[in-house]
Amino acid sequence: MIVYFSGTGNSRYAAALLADRLGDEILDAGTLIKEKKKAELTSEKPWVFVAPTYAWQLPRVFSDLLRNGLFEGSKDAYFVMTCGADIGSPEKELSALCQVKGFAFRGVLEVVMPENYITLFDAPGQEEAARIIAAARPVLEEGARLIGGGESFPERSTGFADKLKSGLINEMFYPVFVKAKAFHVTKDCNGCGLCEKLCPLNNIELEGKEPLWGSRCTQCMACICGCPREAIEYGRRSKGKVRYQCQEYQG
Ligand SMILES: Cc1cc2nc3c(=O)[nH]c(=O)nc-3n(C[C@H](O)[C@H](O)[C@H](O)COP(=O)(O)O)c2cc1C
Ligand code: SF4
Ligand code: SF4
Repeated sequence: MIVYFSGTGNSRYAAALLADRLGDEILDAGTLIKEKKKAELTSEKPWVFVAPTYAWQLPRVFSDLLRNGLFEGSKDAYFVMTCGADIGSPEKELSALCQVKGFAFRGVLEVVMPENYITLFDAPGQEEAARIIAAARPVLEEGARLIGGGESFPERSTGFADKLKSGLINEMFYPVFVKAKAFHVTKDCNGCGLCEKLCPLNNIELEGKEPLWGSRCTQCMACICGCPREAIEYGRRSKGKVRYQCQEYQG
């Protein structure tokens, strides 16, 4: 079973391609998280966990869901991490998670997709995004071939800088950057409520017609990139930036 988490669609695209190639089921972990449900799943095919990279690790909301979930059937776990540049060195944490769950760790695949972290960086425009996605497809195809053939993903070679990013810098990242205080709406907001629906953590509530952000944000970018009126800003950092959403996988 392919279980994915996605803020702006890259990981959903990757998961859909893998599910298509492997003829496997696909499950959106975001809906479980939103409904505050535990993952209680059974699959005879290997588990394939697909997610964006947040500070060179799995998003904590996703690793928590896996840690607290019940996974019956297959004992094989593959990880696919989409990223804007690189996934660092998350192997130690992923192996530890597999050990807790009784999974055999079958490796992690780094898939470079368009950057979506627009409260810190810039997302690419449409043409550039399409080029990056086209380059990611053969990486995903090869991943599907390995999973389908029962082979592990190849071991990655990582250095000290990668370990630092996935270790200490990841620890520092959450208290420093993962906040929702700076989110606000502009006069273009029409109170449609889509942002409230999109937030996997139920961190947005409409007061009358005005969306208000609470403190449970994981900075997934679903709200700011998903608002049809581009009416959400993050302080001044997001002003004038491209809002990124991945195209749907069409085969
Ligand atoms: C909070 C946050 C942290 C991120 N950290 C990294 C990172 O450490 N390395 C990286 O290459 N990309 C990073 N990115 C970019 C995303 O991992 C990348 O764009 C991913 O494909 C988005 O997937 P999604 O569309 O499924 O949400 C980060 C994005 C966000 C929102
Ligand atoms: S999605 Fe955009 S327009 Fe709709 S309520 Fe949220 S901020 Fe306003
Ligand atoms: S508030 Fe926005 S960025 Fe934060 S978790 Fe919800 S949708 Fe994602």
